[in-house]
Order: sequence, then C-alpha cells, then structure tokens
Amino acid sequence: MTAASDAVTNQSPVVDGPAAYAVFGNPIKHSKSPAIHGAFAAQFGADISYRAVAVATEEFEEKVTAFFQRGGSGLNVTVPFKERAWAMADSVSERARKARAANCLIPLKGGGLHADNTDGLGMVRDMVINHGWQLAGRRTLVIGAGGAVRGIVQPLLAERPASLTVVNRTPERAQQLAMEFADSPVTVHSGGLDSVAGYEFDLIINGTSAGLADEMPDLPEGLLSERCCCYDLVYQGEPTAFMRWAAARAAWAVTDGLGMLVEQAAESFFLWRQKRPSTGPVIQQMRELMTQ
Ligand code: ATR
Repeated sequence: MTAASDAVTNQSPVVDGPAAYAVFGNPIKHSKSPAIHGAFAAQFGADISYRAVAVATEEFEEKVTAFFQRGGSGLNVTVPFKERAWAMADSVSERARKARAANCLIPLKGGGLHADNTDGLGMVRDMVINHGWQLAGRRTLVIGAGGAVRGIVQPLLAERPASLTVVNRTPERAQQLAMEFADSPVTVHSGGLDSVAGYEFDLIINGTSAGLADEMPDLPEGLLSERCCCYDLVYQGEPTAFMRWAAARAAWAVTDGLGMLVEQAAESFFLWRQKRPSTGPVIQQMRELMTQ
C-alpha cells in the first residue's frame, strides 16, 4: 500500500464544528452513504448527522456554499457533480487534481474548501486489504475512460503495476487519459476495445457504465491470465454483466465495487474526523441489506 492519504495540507480541516455531513448528487435516492457513515459514527459513539441531498443541476455551487456557511463539517459529492466540486475548491489534493474530480469536500480552518478524491484509494484498499490481491507487478487492464476511471488511475499507478492499459469504446478518450499520465513511471497504454486482442492481463477493472444497462463492452477473447482478478467498479444486488463475463472465463477472483464504496467513505470519514473506521463489518452489513 502507498501512503493512506495525500490530502494533508498545511491548512487543517475544521473538526470541532457541528457534526453535520451530507452527500450531494442527482439522483441520490438510493444512496447508501447515510447508512455507511451512520455505521462508522456508531463505532466511535459519535453523534453525527449525514443526509443524502438531491441537488438541482443549476444549484450545486450555491448549495455547497450554503451548507458550509451553516456549519457543515464535510460533504461528499457524487454524480454528476464531482468535476464541479473539484473546480470550486480553494485547494485540491494531488489525486483530485489528477482525476479533475472530487468526491469529498473539507472546510478549511481559515475559510474555503479543500477537495479530495477518495475513490481510487478506496478501490485499492478494497483490492489489497479486503481481497488480498497483489497489484504491484500485475499487467493491468482498465475498461472505460469516463469519470469513474479518471478517479482510479493515479492511485492504481501508485501501486506500481507492471503495465497499465486503458481501453475504451471511443479510443480517443482513452488516448487523452493516457496522455495526462505520460509523466508516470509506469507506462499507460491506450486504445480501442479490440486493441488488446492477443494480450493477457492479471487484473481487469471494468470502469464503464455499460453494466447499468446490463451490457458488457465488446472485448476480444483470451484476455485473462491464469490468476486474473476481475473487479467491477459498480455494484448491484446481482452479479453484473462484467462479473458474469469474468466468471464464464474462469477468472481467479471476481468482485463488485461495494467494498470500494465503503472504503472511499471510510477515507472521507478519516479526512473529516481523523478517525479510521473499521470497514469489514460495514461491508458485510451493506451486502446483507442489498441481498435481502
Ligand atoms: P462515468 O462517470 O460513470 O464514468 P462517463 O464519463 O459517461 O460516466 O463514462 C462512461 C464510460 O462507459 C465511458 O468510457 C463509455 O464509453 P464511451 O467513452 O465510448 O462513451 C463507457 N460505456 C458506456 N456504455 C458502454 C457500452 N455499452 N459499451 C462499452 N462502453 C460503454
């Protein structure tokens, strides 16, 4: 694992205000974040409030400002506002800068907002700590080049894979993303979905939104090495189309992104409250709720 957080700035977050937290998004009705943060707070006997708020597209910045003016202690941001959260912050972590998106806003002591992105670290922690996967030295393939992938590339590269290849239905988006990471010590390859024909990978991550329509990107056969791990950034009550695709090709391990959801939340909680919750029981609790 690399350092737990690159969000430490010389301006420390406010931690002694009223403990009011929220997630802003649209849609937000099915958000699990209130339950996850409620469970984290209970571990420390802390009395916090955490609300899921549906924000109208044109009102995002205004609502964020009002939330912190009223003494909000921290804010999560989800689709479709992550880029705008990053853009409106006064300071940003390196990983949020690289992602050009933020999912976590922290009030600064002297006023203003610090933006961070805990998605990629959440994914890495889930893979390494919860699933025991090794990332260093692995030939890694990422499918997709949208907002979700943007958030995971830098933390993934920090784990020193043997190589990182990003493929996308629209190859230009993958190429653009690879260019932004051209200064990385690990070379980032890019191309269309069929550009990986004839190559094998030890780790395959699905970062596309195809699964939301129960679809699977049209990939060539023969991509999985003997001990290939397959990870879907999304989660559903049932195995996703990508998970079914991987299982049908005898992947060594297959999982969805529920653990990532809980781990990114834990990292937000840590940034806000300097306390690291235990994630295992909360992942289990969320899994049980989902399959009920
Ligand atoms: P998100 O924020 O969820 O990443 P996004 O930025 O709209 O959303 O990106 C969606 C990603 O899923 C893109 O990589 C998209 O491919 P394109 O760039 O070619 O649009 C990918 N995607 C969505 N549906 C797909 C499908 N049916 N097959 C393959 N890729 C798909």
